[in-house]
Amino acid sequence: MDIRVFEDNAELDVAAARLMADLVKSKPNAVLGLATGSTPIGVYRSLIDAAAKDGISFSSVTTFNLDEYVGLTPDNDQSYAYYMNQHLFSKIDIPLNQTHLPDGMTSDLEAFCQKYDAMLEDAKVDLQLLGLGHNGHIGFNEPAAELSAGTHVITLDEATREANARFFSSIDEVPTKAVTMGVGSILKAERILLVVRGADKASIVRRALTGPVTTDCPASLLQLHARVTVLLDKDAASLLATGGKEGCSNFASAM
Ligand code: GLP
Repeated sequence: MDIRVFEDNAELDVAAARLMADLVKSKPNAVLGLATGSTPIGVYRSLIDAAAKDGISFSSVTTFNLDEYVGLTPDNDQSYAYYMNQHLFSKIDIPLNQTHLPDGMTSDLEAFCQKYDAMLEDAKVDLQLLGLGHNGHIGFNEPAAELSAGTHVITLDEATREANARFFSSIDEVPTKAVTMGVGSILKAERILLVVRGADKASIVRRALTGPVTTDCPASLLQLHARVTVLLDKDAASLLATGGKEGCSNFASAM
C-alpha cells in the first residue's frame, strides 16, 4: 500500500484530485468509481478546480457510485444522487447519462443489483475512490461474518445510521437499508484511492491498514489489492505513526 500523510487538509484534497485528474487526462474515457460522505466533498471541489485550470474534460468519462439509500428519491437532498449532482456532476462537463448510481427506489432491487454488477463488469473501474466508516465499512459493506461480493441490499448498522444522522433532521429519517457495491466489485477496480481524515477514524485506520484481514473490518480486505493509495490527514494517521506500520510496504509523509 502506498500510504501518504498530510498536515494540511487542503493539500490532501488536491493530491486526491490530482490522481483523478491525471487519470482522466491520460485516459479521457476513464471509468471512475465514486464515493459520498463528508470526506470526498473537498476532493470533488479540488477536482472541479483542477478540471477548470487544466482544461480537463469529463465528456467521455463514465462513473459508478458505490451506494445509495433505499427509499430516497434522487431529488431528496439526502440521497447520494442529489449529493453527486450538487458536489460534482453539475460542475463538470460529464453527460448525466454516463453517471450511474444504485437505484434505491426500484421495485425490484434484486434485478437492479444484478444489472449494476453486469454494467460494472463491462465497464471495469479504473480508479475507485473510497471513504471509510467508523466501523470499517467501505461503501455500505458493514462488518459481518460473511460479506457479499456483488451489489446487494444491506441493512445499515445502528452505528452507521447514528453517524449519518448528522445529515438528516433526526435519526428516524435515516433509511434503514441501502444498496451497495459489494467488496468483490470494489476490489476489481484497477486502482483504489482511500481517503480518510480525523482523529475519530485513527483506530479504524490502523485496524484496516495494519490489522488482520477480516470481514469484521471490511476495509481490511483492501490489503489484498495490489494497487491501493491511502491519503490520510495527520489525525487519521496518528495511530499508524505510534502503532505498528506492519503491512504497510510504503509509508510516506507528505507533510
Ligand atoms: C457513509 C458512506 C461511505 C462513506 C462513509 C464515511 O455511510 N456510505 O461510502 O465512506 O460512510 O463517511 P464520512 O466521510 O462522512 O465519514
